[in-house]
Parts: sequence; C-alpha cells; structure tokens
Amino acid sequence: MTKIKPNAYIKDSPAQPQPPAENKPPQFKINLALNESPYPPSPKALEAYHETAKILNRYPNYSSAELRHVLGEKYNLDNTRIMCAAGSEQILSYIARAYIGEGDEVIHPRYGFMVYRFNIAMQGAKSVPVEHDDFVVNVDYILGAVTNKTRLVFLDNPGNPTGTYVPYSEIIRLRENLPDHILLVLDAAYAEFANEADYDAGFDLVDKHENVIVTRTLSKLYGLSGLRIGWAYSTEEIINTLLHLKGGFNVSKPAQSAGAAAVLDQDYADQARDKCRAGIEYLTSELRAMGLNVTSSVCNFVMLHFPDGRDQMKAADQHLKDCGIMVGPLGAYNLSSSLRITVGTDDENKAFINAMKDFMEK
Ligand SMILES: Cc1ncc(COP(=O)(O)O)c(C=O)c1O
Repeated sequence: MTKIKPNAYIKDSPAQPQPPAENKPPQFKINLALNESPYPPSPKALEAYHETAKILNRYPNYSSAELRHVLGEKYNLDNTRIMCAAGSEQILSYIARAYIGEGDEVIHPRYGFMVYRFNIAMQGAKSVPVEHDDFVVNVDYILGAVTNKTRLVFLDNPGNPTGTYVPYSEIIRLRENLPDHILLVLDAAYAEFANEADYDAGFDLVDKHENVIVTRTLSKLYGLSGLRIGWAYSTEEIINTLLHLKGGFNVSKPAQSAGAAAVLDQDYADQARDKCRAGIEYLTSELRAMGLNVTSSVCNFVMLHFPDGRDQMKAADQHLKDCGIMVGPLGAYNLSSSLRITVGTDDENKAFINAMKDFMEK
C-alpha cells in the first residue's frame, strides 16, 4: 500500500470511470444524452479552427485576449472582468477551490447541475440541497436554507436537468436578501436558449453587487462542447482571485479562435436556437400525446417522467438503446422514473419519437 496520501476529501467526490481503452469506443447511432448541440459549429468557427492548425507549435494567448474582447463587445462588459477557461466546469471548480472549505455550507437546487456536489465534496464543505416547486427553483427555499455557515449558492438558471428557469426579478430578490458574505454563482450555461422576456443571465447584478459571478459556456448553443470553452464575468476582486488558480495556458489556441468566430456569427447561432426550440416543442407535444409527463423546458433538452415508475423508465431506456439511441437516465438525482432527452436534428427527433411510440404500444 502506498504511503502517499491524497487530500482527505478526495474520496467524497466520485471519480470519473476510466474503462479499459478500446481503439474505437462504442458509439450510439443517435446521442441525445449530454445536452450538446446536434449541429456542427458555425462554418466561420471551423475556418478559424483550421487556420490555427498551422501555428500549433506556439502556445495560445495566456489570457484568451481575442475571445475576451469579442465577448466583452457582444455583451457590453468590461473584458478585464471576464475570465476564460477550458469549459465552465473548470471555472466552477476554481470557484469552489477559491471560496469554500471544511465546515462551510453551500446551497444548490436539489435537481441542480451534479458537478456542484462534486466540487463541494472535494473541498470538505457541506452540500445543502433545496427543494423545488414542480421542478422550478423557489428563491424562498434558498433564503430559508441560509445559516451562518453558508458561504456560497450555486444556481443553474436555467436548470439542468429540469430545463426550467427562475425569472430575473426573483434572482434580484435573492441577491438582495442573501447576506453580503455569501457568493452567488449564477450558472447560465443554457442562457442562449432562454429568450423569455423575464429571463436574464444576471450581468447587471454583477455590476450592482460585490458578490455575484455569472458563468457561461460555448458548449451548448455554439456547438463547441468538444473544444471546451467556458467563461465567467464578475467583479475585479473575484476575477483576480480566480486568476490565481487558472494556470498558464488553460484555453487552447483553436478553442480561442473558433470560440471568438462562433460568438461573432450571430445569424448561425440564431438559426441553431430556433431549430432547437422547434425541436423541443415537437418532442414535448409528441411525448405528452403518448400520455407521458414532460416538464416544460426553455433549454435544449426536456425531462420526461414515466407514470409507471422506475421499471417503465428502465424498459424505455433499454428499448431506446436497442434502437441505437442514447438518452440520460436521472437516477443520480434520485429521479428514478425520469429521463433527460437532448434535442437532436429533425431526423434524430423523429427516430426518437418513433422508438418511443413503439415502446408505448408494446
Ligand atoms: C448547468 C451546467 N453548467 C455547466 C456545465 C458545464 O459545461 P461546460 O464545462 O461544457 O462549459 C453544464 C454542462 O452540461 C451544465 O449543464
């Protein structure tokens, strides 16, 4: 047995499984499991990506300067208070490492992004999940869970896996009623999909308070999951704190260039969003017509609930697998009779609905 001891809390955070590597890992014909975009990235992003291939002998810009500049212009933000990373997941882990430790309490929605729990556990802090009202986060439950040990609130808005959102007026009320020493992390990974009039990712709140950080990603609407690009906007003090954790060159050269080009190609992003929205409407109405319960979603995925419980969900998941379709079971959230379905292309959505019809008619 090795005498080398890892950090005391590492065992509390689940390890990512690493199965024996095969030359070609098995692929599903249709993958609707990971909330990715079903569309390739903008042709302009691909062109920028290929251009950088010629200069891969050089390190990337250490502060993602061009990408920060483009994001700052697009959202009218001070780009010295933007930080980029290899996925917003990386920023969430910087936040946890910088701001929480042993004995601290961290509030998050019970059905919130699973990664919060891992980061909380890794720091030896206590996870405080709060309930929802019919899968919608209720700000009063968050406020009710605050104690003198609370240091941080992780809030995915819109939420994964729920697909629901909290109106901006409620987010403002939350910040105004949280004690000042609590950091509010607004994880807006799906903000680009939520064009509801009362939704806002929260940049204004960052400017009005000293204790808000908004995290964003190019993995979803912009179709760049495979490149790993996330970013955050906060106060000078918080961004400077997180920069201590960033390391030298955390965002690759192709990621920076393709990311900037993707963000600038608004027409392409708008088309992708409209197609995803239409796909979500199609999936929701077809599944409801089969007598299944679907939570209304503003994201690029829906949560589907099976009235006959866990066995019915498991049988449906197996049937979908047999048809070459991968979806996301939600057992890790204790939602053992639910599946999360990411919107696909029109053909993929139809194939999924046909497979579900088959299953329901059996
Ligand atoms: C709510 C939420 N936040 C953050 C992320 C992380 O995204 P990425 O690390 O690809 O930027 C995801 C990914 O699924 C997510 O669902």
